[in-house]
Amino acid sequence: MLKVDNLCKSFSRLRILNDLSFAVREGELKAIIGPNGAGKTTLFNVITGRFAPDEGAVRFRDKDITGAKPHVLSNLGLARSFQINNFFQNLTVFENVELAVQSRLERRTAVWRDLPHTDGVEARTLEVLDLIGLNEQAGALACNLSYGDQRKLEIGLALGTGPSLLMLDEPTSGMSRFESLSMIELIQRLSERVTIILIEHDIEFVMKVSDSILVIHYGEKIAEGPPAEIERNEEVQRVYLGGL
Ligand SMILES: Nc1ncnc2c1ncn2[C@@H]1O[C@H](COP(=O)(O)OP(=O)(O)O)[C@@H](O)[C@H]1O
Ligand SMILES: [Mg+2]
Repeated sequence: MLKVDNLCKSFSRLRILNDLSFAVREGELKAIIGPNGAGKTTLFNVITGRFAPDEGAVRFRDKDITGAKPHVLSNLGLARSFQINNFFQNLTVFENVELAVQSRLERRTAVWRDLPHTDGVEARTLEVLDLIGLNEQAGALACNLSYGDQRKLEIGLALGTGPSLLMLDEPTSGMSRFESLSMIELIQRLSERVTIILIEHDIEFVMKVSDSILVIHYGEKIAEGPPAEIERNEEVQRVYLGGL
């Protein structure tokens, strides 16, 4: 579904991504882990066209999307949520999701395959709210949500565009244990509907939910494979896991 080939990206001569290649299969949950500053968010920024790579290419369903603009990616079915909250503070939860749904109204998409068919914006908005567990807060202003719920709303915005590939950047960061558990549950539910690339620092969670894990260190791939293999990998243990 997604193929990343030999990506290189530097900022002021500092190499942040170094010849990075990997692929994501349809239906898979691929986790990306690595120490702070490893280049994980930069990788998302390059995949989603925020930065053009210095070298390399990104392909989505065999289409070259290297450096493609956000609305093009959104049309193709690729959605991203950010490490920081990114929504309209003074609109309600419902209105925020509704805007996302409206932006992609004409498309028939994978996320909705198993849901009752409807073209109605309202119905689809309610479905997203139900999926992210915020239906009871539909009328609340986004700025009044708890931090954990704001992060769910942000995922709701991504889901509103009906993606087939969802990219999540540290969705549990800054959360309480309780909030994290609820977010983990949500991601597990979503992974049954949509292909996910997940940047996440909670290793226990990653080991539990991922089909495949990509480990990055100083912008380079040091390992990639199923959780059990990654757990055993000596280099991963040395640079990152510190004796799991
Ligand atoms: N826009 C930018 N300009 C300059 N340096 C950047 C920029 N974005 C990220 N970096 C640098 O790239 C490195 C990797 O950052 P990042 O991709 O955010 O790492 P991670 O998400 O793995 O913690 C860091 O040293 C960071 O300071
Ligand atoms: Mg990051």
